[in-house]
Amino acid sequence: MHPVSLESFMIEYKTLVEERLRDTVGALKTPENLANAMLYSLEAGGKRIRPLLVFAVIDSFGKNPKHGLDAAAAIEMVHTYSLIHDDLPSMDDDDLRRGKPTNHKVFGEATAILAGDALLTLSFNMLAEMSEESASATVKLALIKGLSSAAGALGMVGGQIADMEGEHKELTLEQLEYIHIHKTGKLLEYSIIAGAEIAGATPVQKEILTKFAYHIGLAFQIRDDILDLEGTEELIGKPVGSDTANEKSTYPALLGLEGAKQALEEHLLNAKEALSSTGLQVEILSQITDLIGLRNH
Ligand code: IPE
Ligand code: IPE
Ligand code: MG
Ligand code: MG
Ligand code: MG
Repeated sequence: MHPVSLESFMIEYKTLVEERLRDTVGALKTPENLANAMLYSLEAGGKRIRPLLVFAVIDSFGKNPKHGLDAAAAIEMVHTYSLIHDDLPSMDDDDLRRGKPTNHKVFGEATAILAGDALLTLSFNMLAEMSEESASATVKLALIKGLSSAAGALGMVGGQIADMEGEHKELTLEQLEYIHIHKTGKLLEYSIIAGAEIAGATPVQKEILTKFAYHIGLAFQIRDDILDLEGTEELIGKPVGSDTANEKSTYPALLGLEGAKQALEEHLLNAKEALSSTGLQVEILSQITDLIGLRNH
């Protein structure tokens, strides 16, 4: 069944994934301080855009988005871990995240590192424990393999190291694209492909959705870079000017603010074009694409 608006879709599925995250971590028999640190960052808010992409892709196939619940929760765990580590003093050294003091500011660096490690590893357990109804053994294996690749050296971690090594340097557009595609794009791409996997997509459908994901990934991080300059701390819930302070290579730094905005528009357009060639029911996905371009937080 097709929901009428993105808003009602978002409210319904955000609530579901947040409940699943809380219940899963709440049920862990683990030292209280670790569970509290994990929950602190998971419950600090966040747009839950990656879970929403999983649900929206499944919906576009006319299937029940709820089959994506565990995968969506697993991805949000990996994303939240990446934010906890990204904010550490040895990385971006930021004090505010999702409108609250960063994890290490509240729990200390050692616990923050371990809370991140615990979220990362728990995500794979969530995938392994998916019900047969939501994912066959073959689909589960594809989901686990895909997440390990999107999150690790071939994906987010690879992008993060390139991002750090790119500090205080002027990179080429190609090098900058590598950073964006990996540190941000790969997990977004995985969210889309995980949804496709669960919905039983054909290889051709996955190929078109991967193209869509490529443009969404770049658009998302370019918008993030623009918000680091033009956003307000109150709205983005993280410090403004963090990239400038760390002398990061960003799209605005390389192309200027107008050039970055133009690149953003181009990627959104290409994403929309890819979407329209899928032959799927893409209303919600298309609205999420608009949201990525317009978001102010
Ligand atoms: C922030 O991601 C980090 C990037 C990869 C750009 P989000 O903008 O999705 O952050 P939350 O989850 O809403 O806090
Ligand atoms: C983060 O990029 C990508 C991650 C893997 C967390 P940024 O460093 O630009 O993200 P923010 O701006 O701190 O959210
Ligand atoms: Mg960073
Ligand atoms: Mg950062
Ligand atoms: Mg940023």
